[in-house]
Amino acid sequence: MEFPVQTANPAKVETACLVVPVFKDGELLPAAAKLDNASERLIGQLIERGDFEATLGNVLMVPFAPGLNTDRLMLVGLGERGKCQEGAFRKAVDAVFTAIAPLPAEDVAVAFTDVPVADRGCDWKARMVAEATHRAVYRFDDFKSEKAPAPSLEKVTLLISEQGDADAARRGAHVGDAIGQGVATTRTLGNLPGNVCTPSYLAERAERLAAESGGELTAEILDEAALEELGAHSLLSVGRGSAEPSRLIVMRYQGAEEADEAPHVLVGKGITFDTGGISLKPGEGMDEMKFDMCGAASVFGTVTSVLAIKPRINLVAIVAAAENMPDGRATKPGDIIQTLKGLSVEVLNTDAEGRLVLCDALTYAERFEPASVVDIATLTGAAIIALGHHATGLLSNDDDLALDILDAGETAWDRAWHLPLWDEYQEQLSSNFADLANIGGRPAGTITAACFLSRFADKFPWAHLDIAGTAWTSGKQKGASGRPVGLLTQYLLDREADGEVEVADD
Ligand code: BES
Ligand code: MN
Ligand code: ZN
Repeated sequence: MEFPVQTANPAKVETACLVVPVFKDGELLPAAAKLDNASERLIGQLIERGDFEATLGNVLMVPFAPGLNTDRLMLVGLGERGKCQEGAFRKAVDAVFTAIAPLPAEDVAVAFTDVPVADRGCDWKARMVAEATHRAVYRFDDFKSEKAPAPSLEKVTLLISEQGDADAARRGAHVGDAIGQGVATTRTLGNLPGNVCTPSYLAERAERLAAESGGELTAEILDEAALEELGAHSLLSVGRGSAEPSRLIVMRYQGAEEADEAPHVLVGKGITFDTGGISLKPGEGMDEMKFDMCGAASVFGTVTSVLAIKPRINLVAIVAAAENMPDGRATKPGDIIQTLKGLSVEVLNTDAEGRLVLCDALTYAERFEPASVVDIATLTGAAIIALGHHATGLLSNDDDLALDILDAGETAWDRAWHLPLWDEYQEQLSSNFADLANIGGRPAGTITAACFLSRFADKFPWAHLDIAGTAWTSGKQKGASGRPVGLLTQYLLDREADGEVEVADD
């Protein structure tokens, strides 16, 4: 997909479809006004006659546009001017590309950077357009005999009114393009069924990503023998009941000027299928537990975005991959396991397996002496009860890091919400027989899961993202969302500035 930037008069732009946003109230935006003048007030008349209502997300396709050089004109409603915030802007952009994706149009031009959104510049708007384009043309039909025709869209031209905004628009489109690719990677990995996407499959994907990166990325895979040797018995305990061997996957990207600059570490939960193990889950909707590797998928997606942007930071991406199955050899409730850190854990519920693979991965992260560690996991059903499907749960042992992540989520419009990680919650994890139990009872399930992880994250600033509610959609639209690749990529891009050496002016 290409995203060129143009300052030409929109009436002169030759394209298959010209997209013009319109507010319900007030004057037409600059691009719309120019088009209106050049087309004998086509837009104004459509509104006056009641043929187009500019409610938020309402789209009207006009198949001919006399006086203009475009084949088609598409109007999109922005709703009320006073309510045009980020969410509204995104809704309008999504409506446009959802309508465009099935059309036989190879190139379109959009005038979205004109739309006033408080505190958001041209780069942000360009980026949202690029991300929405990728989201709309995404298909997952590898396993269908009859495939829907592939979308024809290849080029989205960003029309801007001010030449001075061109660089910002280009930069935004580039980042949005990279995030769009990362989101698509994450969605595909998430959507793949558990019989295809196994821990070894994820390991192969990491090796392939490294091989195709032209030396920018390296991948190291720890198999079960290596994990045994290392002492990662907690990670291994989860895959014990599965015929699929577990893996710890480590990818490294070195973009900082100094090779030894402390890296940022991402750790993804990669349970390629979660039956619950001996604490078996009920059957209904269990297929959705193929999405239990969406944390890992978001790590792959973020690595994909990072490789496309190449920020000057060092990054280590770790995926803890296992399949959670019941079996004669499976871990049982009451079993006590030894973690890589040395703490013993009483497994009171084998369905609380995510924390058991993550704790060893967090201990493994210590060796990189990280600047920060962020883990991403579909960890608790309780996160859905607390936050629903809009906000990712955020817990952290470092308030500055938490703020950086909240901020990145706002910018990327892939938002998280901060939950408390107070000491008072820790006692819910006490065990009569081991150093800690792997569950903390019903109250505050998302917090006690994070409390468990925090015991293994005492050597670095650490944040945990519970994406149980945001990683995928259920029902008719069932499928992985690609979240929180936007948040994570933005978080890493923001870290570039931290590493910059400040020059003192004397
Ligand atoms: N993968 C699940 C969490 C989950 C459930 C995510 C439903 C999205 C939708 C996780 O491994 C799990 O089973 N957690 C248990 C923890 C409990 C046993 C303490 C849960 O949330 O019920
Ligand atoms: Mn589980
Ligand atoms: Zn799980």
